[in-house]
Amino acid sequence: MAKHVCPVWVGHLLASPLRKLLNNPKSMLGKHVIKDMIVLDIGCAMGFFSLPLAEMVGAQGKVICIDLQEKMLETIKKRAYKAGLLDRIETYLCSQDSLGLKGFSDKIDFVLAFAVVHEVQNADKFFSEIYEAIKSNRSLLVEEPKLHVSKNDFEITVSLAEQKGFKAINRLCTFFDRTVLLQKQNIH
Ligand SMILES: C[S@@+](CC[C@H](N)C(=O)[O-])C[C@H]1O[C@@H](n2cnc3c(N)ncnc32)[C@H](O)[C@@H]1O
Repeated sequence: MAKHVCPVWVGHLLASPLRKLLNNPKSMLGKHVIKDMIVLDIGCAMGFFSLPLAEMVGAQGKVICIDLQEKMLETIKKRAYKAGLLDRIETYLCSQDSLGLKGFSDKIDFVLAFAVVHEVQNADKFFSEIYEAIKSNRSLLVEEPKLHVSKNDFEITVSLAEQKGFKAINRLCTFFDRTVLLQKQNIH
């Protein structure tokens, strides 16, 4: 059965600056992302996290923004242009089948998958593709909203990521979210 995908109108709400009161990108991601990194924001929608990430990686870094919906990516580009950050942002339209990360093998320093895994049709392939793209010992931060994802389903997601070669190294459960920090292990 096809999974529900976040509609574009919700994408506008998610990009609201007021959301910083709940999810502050700098305090959530500042300890994982430093200058010059190449970072993936998967299921980026309209870039609530992508733009602060672009500030964190600096002028020599890059934020690769991936989404299923062209409209989300168009809006990110407009927002990045207005913020003077367009040169640090690359957008890629993916399919339900694949993230299309072939060109990024072993090149990525950090991956954010915020509120997206529960919308992904093939989570098994999703984690395999991220595993190939990320450098060894680097981190993938997965957040899922409690509103859509039960504790049990979240644990299934974590164990799927672990089967693909990640190790859960930190977990956080807040009123709204379940979050896990996963690190790529060398399994070859
Ligand atoms: C709930 S929104 C979260 C947006 C963003 N991460 C945030 O927190 O503001 C989920 C986003 O994931 C995208 N999405 C859904 N399935 C996807 C997939 N298989 N690959 C990439 N993006 C996907 C949707 O188009 C939507 O923009």
